[in-house]
Amino acid sequence: MLNETTIQIIKSTVPVLEVHGTAITKRFYQMMFSSHPELLNIFNHANQKQGRQQTALANAVYAAAVNIDKLEAILPAVKQIAHKHRSLGVKAEHYPIVGQHLLAAIKDVLGDAATEEILQAWADAYGVIADAFIGIEAEMYVQSEQQEGGWADFRAFRVERKVKESDVITSFYLVPEDGRALAAFEPGQYVSVQVDIPGESNTHIRQYSLSAASGLPYYRISVKREDAADGRPAGKVSLYLHEQVQEGGILRLSAPAGSFTLDREDKRPVVLIGGGVGLTPMVSMLHTLAQTDPDRQVTFIHAAQNGKVHALRREVEELARANPQLSVHWCYTRPDGADRERGDYDREGYIDLPWLQSAIPAADASFYFCGPVPFMKAVNRMLKTWGAADADLHYEFFGPAAQLEQA
Ligand code: HEM
Repeated sequence: MLNETTIQIIKSTVPVLEVHGTAITKRFYQMMFSSHPELLNIFNHANQKQGRQQTALANAVYAAAVNIDKLEAILPAVKQIAHKHRSLGVKAEHYPIVGQHLLAAIKDVLGDAATEEILQAWADAYGVIADAFIGIEAEMYVQSEQQEGGWADFRAFRVERKVKESDVITSFYLVPEDGRALAAFEPGQYVSVQVDIPGESNTHIRQYSLSAASGLPYYRISVKREDAADGRPAGKVSLYLHEQVQEGGILRLSAPAGSFTLDREDKRPVVLIGGGVGLTPMVSMLHTLAQTDPDRQVTFIHAAQNGKVHALRREVEELARANPQLSVHWCYTRPDGADRERGDYDREGYIDLPWLQSAIPAADASFYFCGPVPFMKAVNRMLKTWGAADADLHYEFFGPAAQLEQA
């Protein structure tokens, strides 16, 4: 444990470090990748370019430091990160590398302000935080290896089927190459997919939510192709999957992970709200609820630009037809001519509170939502205004997690 002096130094320097947080983590990544280029095989380069990972790491280190004398207060956040680390293959031996470069970056950015005493306090604090992660992750590796059909690290899967679900989303049905059992998972969880893209010097890893229910002989992911737009580069991995990976191809997957999961003990009405490709974990939850909880009232809301990019529509409608406790609502922000002719959507434009209130039976429900950040912020705000309890709002970000209010 840390002594009182160290704790006080940490607490008094957190505000200073926070001011320089992004500069420190940026410098940290530069230094770490130049001395350990092999770590480029683990980190998402697109997140690095957008600065999102820098912010996520900085926030996590400072949140942990502020709570250094009561780390259990941030256990859910630690677990969420640990899930991501386990799914990426982060190991105990990586922590000293990160620690060494983080301290060097603090020293570099703060200059003389970083006294020996301060650096020592942060080295000690990092040690405590790292030990907490290492312990939780070690348990997660053991669990995923010991679970029936489970495994540690990456396992080869064959693309059994590739199905175009919309103009931008394609599903991949993945079966293990070794022909052995497949681990059960909780709806809402994701897998990490590791690929070697021809011409690229590093392997790339991305997370995709599982879009079917557990208990099937395959895992299904439904991937949106990220073409270049608004100054944002094209998504290397999504384009590779869409254009170059065919049926029969091999992908490497780590075992399902993630803490954005359906609370199955809760029997109150549940509302699933997905924006764009954020519908994928919602569809997995919907299948699961239909199979396991026939008495639970479920409202499924999906916002898409229009019918052309709306994936898995028929599948969801068939589920709703067969299960009267499910109600389904489509919201098109920019319906096209064909949509208008068919008129087969419930709302035109963005979701707003009066419309949500008309679609959802009551604010006393459990809400799960996933989608682009502005969409999630809007949904979160509306539900809070309506009176939904914080504890009933569950959400998942694409990419590095953040607090919705700060995103
Ligand atoms: C992701 C914190 C150590 C590799 C993250 C995220 C946070 C975080 C907050 C984002 C989680 C999310 O997306 O939901 C920390 C803290 C650490 C630590 C506080 C030390 C105490 C490490 C180590 C490695 C590592 C030792 C391995 C070298 C990664 C990678 C990601 C990640 C690869 C995924 C994001 C990306 O690819 O850009 N970490 N981490 N982390 N972490 Fe760590």
